[in-house]
Amino acid sequence: MQDFLSTKKHDEMRQGEAFGIDTIDIKLPLKNFYIESYGCAMNFADSEVVASILQKEGFGSVKEPALADLILINTCSIREKAEDTVRKRLTEFRKFKKTKPGLIVGVLGCMAERLKGTFIEQEKLVDIVVGPDAYRSLPGLIEEAYTGQKGVNVLLSREETYADISPIRLNSNGVTAFVSIMRGCNNMCSFCVVPFTRGRERSRDALSIVQECETLFNEGYREVTLLGQNVDSYNFTDSRSEILDKRKKTITFANLLEMVSLVSPLLRVRFSTSHPKDLTDDVLFTIKKYENICNNIHLPVQSGSSRVLQLMNRTYSREWYLAKVDRIRETIPDCGLSTDMITGFCTETDEDHEASLSLFDYCKFDLAYLYYYSERPGTLAERRFEDDVPLDVKKKRLQELVDLYRDHSLRTMQKEIGKIFKILVEGFSKKSEEQLQGRTDQNKVVIFAKENILKGDYVYVKITHCTAGTLFGEALK
Ligand code: SAM
Ligand code: SF4
Ligand code: F3S
Repeated sequence: MQDFLSTKKHDEMRQGEAFGIDTIDIKLPLKNFYIESYGCAMNFADSEVVASILQKEGFGSVKEPALADLILINTCSIREKAEDTVRKRLTEFRKFKKTKPGLIVGVLGCMAERLKGTFIEQEKLVDIVVGPDAYRSLPGLIEEAYTGQKGVNVLLSREETYADISPIRLNSNGVTAFVSIMRGCNNMCSFCVVPFTRGRERSRDALSIVQECETLFNEGYREVTLLGQNVDSYNFTDSRSEILDKRKKTITFANLLEMVSLVSPLLRVRFSTSHPKDLTDDVLFTIKKYENICNNIHLPVQSGSSRVLQLMNRTYSREWYLAKVDRIRETIPDCGLSTDMITGFCTETDEDHEASLSLFDYCKFDLAYLYYYSERPGTLAERRFEDDVPLDVKKKRLQELVDLYRDHSLRTMQKEIGKIFKILVEGFSKKSEEQLQGRTDQNKVVIFAKENILKGDYVYVKITHCTAGTLFGEALK
């Protein structure tokens, strides 16, 4: 607790220091930037904010690092492996620096926040290091880097949501887009580095979210995914309504979902991620009420053992989670359900692992992201518990979960054969331009013959066969 309080104090102090870096009016020579993103969808969405900031300064985006004058790598710290991948990539960029002396290399994102100046000291090729809340200061730091100065800005903010910045859609299919609705996380799951790398939770102005979704719809996009580490705790108090009608209007996540769904019945709405403790009946009723809010919930459980869940500080028990799953299924019977699970967390026994397997048996998730525990420096678990499950045991338990999940998903997919689904077409399938790919409301990928159907169309498809990960079918005329 002591450490948490001191972290909070530190953030407040650093946020105060962040004032004054907002307004930058510099024109850099026309240059090309290349950005590579790792980690969660929020990081990918952040790269689109960064692209917008750079475009205003005259930078154009390129798809090859060899063509760039500025290489940015938007990093992830969630597991040790994610950090190793970034380090490896940085050493690969070294060869470009040798052939292009003026090249600037920058590290953005969660590793920037976690490792701060050590990047510049240890990795000699890095020129700038910018944390997730400090992207507005990028143009200034780039300009300084042109003059040979190295720069670091990893200030965390309590207010920054980049609400006024229209992201430039990078690598977009023109049909689906991410929209960030909040930043940071106030939950202190003991295994997780995110509260330290992304700071305190804050919700973005609801009106700016709706406007971004309207713009996307008018540009031809047909699906938005509302993003946050914990979307169900979205809470925005609209100060304009306070002035207008003397009442404070607090917008909850259920309210926001409704507002976005009303942009157009042709705009599909998804969201991620839901912390089980915050997923309310109001949200479930809103999903049920609007046809264009997808019947799909990502509800990370992390472990099936109440004892481990308590050590993880997840604030719910196995029974509580299962009751939530029952509630979802009785309210929205055809709801797709996905999860995250960690094997080999500190002190996890065979019995705890069995509890995770049996939870999987009960829930029959449509999709699962499975990991073995990776101790992260500075987290509560690293400070309080011993990382005592041997790596081979962590991996063996992970494999058992993967096998069980594959078995479930094949059976669930087989049950869809013969059914008809409404699919939003996202583009060509990965294997052939004669086939199209889209997703069901429940987020299952469906592949079918192209015929006269276009990207962005809704089409009804009858499922004919499947694999464990993909449905195949025929579009109905
Ligand atoms: N906010 C989401 C939630 O509450 O579940 C999760 C966000 S986190 C970016 C994505 C997933 O990474 C987590 O759900 C967890 O399963 C996994 N994860 C986080 N820290 C981890 C660690 N130290 N080792 C292994 N997996 C981890
Ligand atoms: Fe990490 Fe927990 Fe926050 Fe998710 S809710 S980002 S797992 S601290
Ligand atoms: Fe990684 Fe940061 Fe996302 S640690 S998972 S990029 S919030």
